[in-house]
Amino acid sequence: MDRRSNLFPRNFKEELALAVRAEGIYIYDEKGNRYIDGCSGALISSLGHGVREVTDAISEQLEILAFAHPSRWRNRAIEEAAAEVAEITPGDLNYIWFVSGGSEATESAVKMARQYFIEKEGAGTSRHLVIGRWNSYHGSTLGSMAIGGNMPRRRYFSPMFKEHPKIQAHYCYRCPFGLEHPSCGVRCARELEDAIKRIGPQYVAAFIAEPIVGSTVGALVPPDEYWPMIREICDRYGALLIADEVMTGFGRTGKAFAVDHWNVVPDIMAAAKAMAAGYVPTGGVFASERLVDVFRKGSGAFMHGHTYNGNPLSGAATAATLRYMKRNGLFNNAFIQGEALGKAMMSLADIPIVGDVRGRGLMWGIEIVYDKVSKSPFPRGKRASAIVTAECMRRGLVIYPSGGMVDGVDGDNFMIAPPLNVTSEQVQEIVGILEQGLYSACDILLKTPV
Ligand SMILES: Cc1ncc(COP(=O)(O)O)c(C=O)c1O
Repeated sequence: MDRRSNLFPRNFKEELALAVRAEGIYIYDEKGNRYIDGCSGALISSLGHGVREVTDAISEQLEILAFAHPSRWRNRAIEEAAAEVAEITPGDLNYIWFVSGGSEATESAVKMARQYFIEKEGAGTSRHLVIGRWNSYHGSTLGSMAIGGNMPRRRYFSPMFKEHPKIQAHYCYRCPFGLEHPSCGVRCARELEDAIKRIGPQYVAAFIAEPIVGSTVGALVPPDEYWPMIREICDRYGALLIADEVMTGFGRTGKAFAVDHWNVVPDIMAAAKAMAAGYVPTGGVFASERLVDVFRKGSGAFMHGHTYNGNPLSGAATAATLRYMKRNGLFNNAFIQGEALGKAMMSLADIPIVGDVRGRGLMWGIEIVYDKVSKSPFPRGKRASAIVTAECMRRGLVIYPSGGMVDGVDGDNFMIAPPLNVTSEQVQEIVGILEQGLYSACDILLKTPV
């Protein structure tokens, strides 16, 4: 770490390489070393880096109108972005509330759900709880962490939360109920109904979940019955369904949104990351006609707002990103290259520390274990996912590590999620480097008993 730096870094004890430029799927450090951005940052840079069409649109907007406060002004760029987004959102999720990132999106979504019931039932409504899931992640602000279930990130701050109820996620590799699909009858989805009954439906405003779990567990795909069952339970008890598509949205899983795999239309959707593909911090909350109608006929105003809501730069970047995605068929490329990536990732299943390989589209995860038969994780102190990450990075591949999902402490996983315009040659190169990195990590991690 440069001792003269005035930065408060993410970790004072970790020395990071200096990124100096990026192009396509590659990032270069100050020594000229080239790295494949194998996880699109954190599933953000879906177009890859340096797309002129997007940077030009942003610079032009910057010159015309950089900012006009959303409480006084409309602006054309954000209107155009909203129209581009609404063209691909599921069902009638046609109204876009713009924000600056994923945590703001999920937190705005739960506030929208709460106010929906106030508009509908009056200020005395008891619907205020948002049921979430263990092993989920919805952001790092206090509100978004309270509805999330990522233990390593919650631990320090949970005494400061207003707690919300949690159910188990569809973690089939380590089923929390000790069952197996399909004989389980998707117990994890039915758990939502049990929770709503236990709490009392009159207190439940919404259920929030990631359609495919991202950073906490590593690309956890639910059984096909899961999301239709969840939709039906929410409808039966009058709770709103919020899909957190911050990581999965905008083509990442081979369809526009991950809920499209199951033809489920949520009431509210939160998105960010790939919405402006890392070019400008942007996010959005997408609301259904039914929900918006209640606001329109009620007070008319969402009691919420941030300075950067719907700023023109977000608008220009989002509109240009979506036009580029649509014109270049990137969702379809994610589907086609996703099949190739999945097949190649599955071929790594015999590596001694590879416990489970899972994913959809261009979002694949590997769970790292010490013992394949017992599925025992490495103890936290072994830093297994950090070692795999370092071994890949040394070979020019950036991957996305996470951990703590087995019991809130132990458990290691990582994701591979390259830009959506990755080619088949690049997919093979990524998996080739990953294989070398994993074998090298095996040598380090299995050298001594745990
Ligand atoms: C599913 C999900 N929701 C919310 C967030 C928070 O987004 P941000 O980091 O932009 O605040 C993330 C970030 O990784 C995420 O993966």
